[in-house]
Amino acid sequence: MAGTGIFTDILDGDVYKYYSDGEWKTSSSGKSVAIINPATRKTQYKVQACTQEEVNKVMEMAKSAQKSWAKTPLWKRAELLHKAAAILKDNKAPIAESLVKEIAKPAKDSVTEVVRSGDLISYCAEEGVRILGEGKFLLSDSFPGNERTKYCLTSKIPLGVVLAIPPFNYPVNLAVSKIAPALIAGNSLVLKPPTQGAVSCLHMVHCFHLAGFPKGLISCITGKGSEIGDFLTMHPAVNCISFTGGDTGISISKKAGMIPLQMELGGKDACIVLEDADLDLVASNIIKGGFSYSGQRCTAVKVVLVMESVANELVEKVKAKVAKLTVGPPEENCDITAVVSESSANFIEGLVMDAKDKGATFCQEYKRQGNLIWPLLLDNVKPDMRIAWEEPFGPVLPVLRINSVEEGINHCNASNFGLQGCVFTKDINKAMLISDAMETGTVQINSAPARGPDHFPFQGLKDSGIGSQGVTNSISLMTKVKTTVINLPTPSYSMG
Ligand code: G3H
Repeated sequence: MAGTGIFTDILDGDVYKYYSDGEWKTSSSGKSVAIINPATRKTQYKVQACTQEEVNKVMEMAKSAQKSWAKTPLWKRAELLHKAAAILKDNKAPIAESLVKEIAKPAKDSVTEVVRSGDLISYCAEEGVRILGEGKFLLSDSFPGNERTKYCLTSKIPLGVVLAIPPFNYPVNLAVSKIAPALIAGNSLVLKPPTQGAVSCLHMVHCFHLAGFPKGLISCITGKGSEIGDFLTMHPAVNCISFTGGDTGISISKKAGMIPLQMELGGKDACIVLEDADLDLVASNIIKGGFSYSGQRCTAVKVVLVMESVANELVEKVKAKVAKLTVGPPEENCDITAVVSESSANFIEGLVMDAKDKGATFCQEYKRQGNLIWPLLLDNVKPDMRIAWEEPFGPVLPVLRINSVEEGINHCNASNFGLQGCVFTKDINKAMLISDAMETGTVQINSAPARGPDHFPFQGLKDSGIGSQGVTNSISLMTKVKTTVINLPTPSYSMG
C-alpha cells in the first residue's frame, strides 16, 4: 500500500514529505496541498507546500552535490541507476496504486508505467556508459591550410543542475525520462512533480534514495505553482529545464535564462486515412490512439482526417469498437476513467457543446458524470469548430472528412502544434511523401502516434516543443561538448 512498508519514511501523519539533502522533510510553511482523486472528487492525499527558502536550500545543495557527482566514475553512476530501477520495479504495486488514486490511470496501465520506467532507467544507464565513454579525435590537417600540428579531443561534460517538471499523465515515467539521463551525464536533479501525480513521484524518488545516491544530488520539491513555479524555473542555479506539459511551457521558455530547454507541450496529432487503407487496422489504432488513458496523452490521435469515399465505413467500424469500451473506476481497469480534474472535464464539455452548436454529428450520446466523460466520436466536424484545432485531452475524437490528401496535409500543417501524426495506406511511396509533407516531429506509418519505445527520438515542431527526447537525445541535451587541443611544435604524421 502507498505510504507503508519501505515507504513509511515519506509520510508525516497524513501529509507526504518533500525530499531534500537526502532526507524526507516537513515544510516550514506548515501548509499542505490537497490532491483530489479524479474519480471520487475527494481529497486523496496531501503534500507539503514548500517555500521559496526551501527551494533555495535545495538548489544550493544540488550545486555542491553535482561537483562531486561529476567526478564519480561513469560505471558507478550506472550501477546506482540500475539499483534504483530494480527497487522501483520491485515496488511497482504501491506506486501503481498511487497512480490509480491521484490520476485515475487504469490499474494495469499504472503498473505498466512503473515497469516501463524501471526499464527506461536501466536502458539509460547502459546507453550512458556507451555514449559518454566515447569522444571524438580530430586532426588539424583535414582543414585547408593546416599541417598536422593540432590534436583535438572532444568529450561530453555535465551542465550542472537540471530542473525536471513532468506532467500529470505520466508522473513517474516522464519524471525518470528526465532524471536518469541527467544523472548518468553527471548532473544533479531537482524534481518538481505535478500536483496530481506528486505522491507517485515521491514514492519513485524514495527508490532512488534507497539505491544510495549521494545527499543533495536528487531533490523533490512539492507545492503550489503560484508560489514556487516561477521561482524554480527562473532560479539562477538551474542550468537546464526539462518540462513536459501544456502551454505553461511557452511562458517558462520566455522567462528562462540562457540555458538548454527540453520542452514537450502537447499536440493535435492527425490521423490521415487514404482510400486504400486497411480500415480494420485504422479502427483499432483510432481506438488505441484516441481513447487509451481517456485521451489524456499528448500523442493521442486528436483528429481523424479520412477520405470521404471510405469515411462511412471507417466511422461504422470505430463506432462498433467505441461501444465495447468500458467506462468506470480505474481500480476495475475500465478503458475510460475520470479525466484528471473538474476544470478539465468542463473544458472538454465546452468543446463538445461548441461542436454541437455548429452541427457535428454525434455518433454516441454525450454523457458525463462528475469528471467521467463517456467516449464520444464526433463525425462531420468542420474547420470552424474549436474541436478541429484544440486538444481536448479527453475521450472525445473529431472526424473531418477530406476530399484530397492535400486537404488532409493542409489541415495538419495549419495547426499550431506539430508533435506527431500518422498516415494509413498500403502504398509506402505515398506514405513517404505524406510523411515528408507533414510538419510534425514524427510521422507513424500504419500505426497510431506514440512516444515509445523510449529510446526513439521524440520531439515536436512549432508549439509542441523544443529539443528532442528519447534516451540518447536526452543525455546529449543534458551535456555540453568540451574540447582539449594538443598543440605540437612541429607537424607529426603517423606513417603506419
Ligand atoms: O503525454 C505525453 C507522452 O509523452 C505520451 O507518451 O505516447 O507513451 O503515451 P505515450
